[in-house]
Amino acid sequence: MSEGKGFGAIRVIRENNMEEAKRLQKLPTYVFALLDKLKAAERAKGLDLIDLTIGSPNIMPPKEVCDALVSSLKDPKNHRYSSFEGDPEFKKAIVSWCKRKYKIDIKPDETVTLLGSKEGLIHFAFAYLNEGDTVLVPSPAYPAHFRGPILAGAEPYILPTIEKDGFIPDLDIIDESIAQKAKMLIISYPTNPTAATAPRKFFEKAVKFAKKHDLILIHDFAYAEIYFDNEKPISCLSIPGAKDVCIEFHSLSKTFGMAGWRLGFAVGNPKLIASLRKIKTNLDYGPFGAIVKASIAALNISDEYLDNMRNAYQKRRDLMVDALNQMGWKIEKPKATFYIWIPVPSGFDAMSFVNHLLQKTGVVVSPGVGFGDLGEGYVRIALVEEDDRIKEAISRMKKAGIKYNG
Ligand SMILES: Cc1ncc(COP(=O)(O)O)c(C=O)c1O
Repeated sequence: MSEGKGFGAIRVIRENNMEEAKRLQKLPTYVFALLDKLKAAERAKGLDLIDLTIGSPNIMPPKEVCDALVSSLKDPKNHRYSSFEGDPEFKKAIVSWCKRKYKIDIKPDETVTLLGSKEGLIHFAFAYLNEGDTVLVPSPAYPAHFRGPILAGAEPYILPTIEKDGFIPDLDIIDESIAQKAKMLIISYPTNPTAATAPRKFFEKAVKFAKKHDLILIHDFAYAEIYFDNEKPISCLSIPGAKDVCIEFHSLSKTFGMAGWRLGFAVGNPKLIASLRKIKTNLDYGPFGAIVKASIAALNISDEYLDNMRNAYQKRRDLMVDALNQMGWKIEKPKATFYIWIPVPSGFDAMSFVNHLLQKTGVVVSPGVGFGDLGEGYVRIALVEEDDRIKEAISRMKKAGIKYNG
């Protein structure tokens, strides 16, 4: 460093040092960051935006949970570092939630508490992937499913999913050499962004496939509780033998309207769980103790809160899908999640339609390309505003003559 002559040389060296790590440079553009800039510019002009971009629920957490947080705040113990092993009471609540909701048997040491499932998904990639490893990832997908492996130095191998096949990848057509080389398969049903669900037989197939090819099977179950018409999604761990290969990620963000709290957990194969805990031990001290205590109240909640939450999203889904169909789209009502995934009218690509809608109506939706190249030609509508705002969005779209023309 000191060989450089004068300040100019030092500046050159420093500028090189300021180059981001290759793992960051390899990431595809984060479309949502661009979208954020676009939204900020429009807001600065005084436009009343109806923001249906990010899947950040506006439904309040249960009152019992907020009350539990307030009282947990008064306990001095909760202000100290949390234990690396996790709160035993919270682990007990996870075990009984998993049994009650998904009929799966989880032991306390088969759980790990997370700062949201996104954190867990990314750090799991770092716990298991080496430079050049291959990860099988369906697409379009929640960005962390491919960005996590890229950050960890691995190569996502895209499994294309299309509407005709219910956005479920065909595992039978994966080249044998790719399947043998791969280290992980990441699935997530109900799915963000397409709102697709998967039947038990897909999970059976995924478990069999993972076992045959010695793969780690990740199931991201963030939308486990957001389903309609009594078609309850299943846990991958309910497939016999799944625990030999599978780790499943759960989130309180969507289920209990707690996205800002940052709390999730993973359950499943004890070795996979232990490695995730091991990497996290080196990175963080776990969530704020008061939040963990309050989250116990969430996992013990009565079904009434969850039924009301589902009814609220179902009502919004019906409002939006019916309106879109009046505008020329031909969309089936999604069976789960609070998303609607729609093709863009001809003459647009995903980003230009997002822009057009924003300029004409002040309604903002997510461009499908943010979820991978296969999302081009689609946008995702997140129903995370109250009914009156959804109605307002619909009315603005109709007034602006937005329609689907194939
Ligand atoms: C499929 C999926 N997994 C995980 C997450 C992240 O959730 P959390 O808030 O638990 O980090 C999201 C958030 O949108 C998601 O859509």
